Amino acid sequence: MTAKIISGREVAEQILTTDLKNKVIALNENNIKPKLVVVLVGDVKASASYVAQKEKFAVKAGIESEVRRFKKDVTEDEILTVIDNINNDKSIHGVIVQLPLPDHISVAKVLNRIHPSKDVDGFTPTNVGKLFLGEDTLVSCTPKGIMQMLASTGTNLTGKNVTVVGRSNIVGKPVAILCLQQHATVTMCHSRTKDLNAKLADADIIIVAVGIPKFIHGDQIPEGSIVIDVGIHNIDGKLCGDVDFDSASIKASSITPVPGGVGPMTVCALIENTIIAAERIG
Ligand code: GUN
Repeated sequence: MTAKIISGREVAEQILTTDLKNKVIALNENNIKPKLVVVLVGDVKASASYVAQKEKFAVKAGIESEVRRFKKDVTEDEILTVIDNINNDKSIHGVIVQLPLPDHISVAKVLNRIHPSKDVDGFTPTNVGKLFLGEDTLVSCTPKGIMQMLASTGTNLTGKNVTVVGRSNIVGKPVAILCLQQHATVTMCHSRTKDLNAKLADADIIIVAVGIPKFIHGDQIPEGSIVIDVGIHNIDGKLCGDVDFDSASIKASSITPVPGGVGPMTVCALIENTIIAAERIG
């Protein structure tokens, strides 16, 4: 079997230039101009390129975006004050603090300071809690993008076996909850799972977000399964994911590429969350 490629780039482009653009036009007609602010601290190379993509996608959907840049020795108090000002600024509907932050700044403290109504990353305890309870909320972007990619394949998750490899707060745990909400049977695995192959053997869908290059190989993947690869790594100048694409794409029925898979969907979900926040805040 040769897998069909699930192009996140194409799905994202479609969502941005149709649904989201139309929602922005409707908001503009009511004098609401959705605006996203990205807080960027230091000079992490990967962060700079993610932020550039966020700005590009904002333009595609017709929303305003602004990057507030700070030197890596900015104090925690200064960043907390920046967040307070954004929370109180009625012209801003969504804010994200690009991670990682320098070690002297507490990620938990900074994220906690963001008002949940503007938390378009869906990282605050309030929004994570609402997701857990199945309440309407701003859902974190990578899990939301993954669900949209699965929907784009026409797959109904009811009763499907989903194996998630990786247990992070930003991807593994929330995507498992979203799959449960769609009536899948979810198995959670991670880098220390005993006999991972047995947990993968009956999977209909495999979501890998373990942060280890080419951690999953084709011989571990059941024939005909759908594979979603969240990882992105630069190995000797070449990008790869958490899945060994060449061997996996012979076994899977559909697979996400790296790059051009989950990455663009994450950014698209961020723009969508900003528009949802604008619709709610006004
Ligand atoms: N750094 C890498 N991924 C993300 C993300 O989804 N949100 C934020 N804020 N920072 C990140």
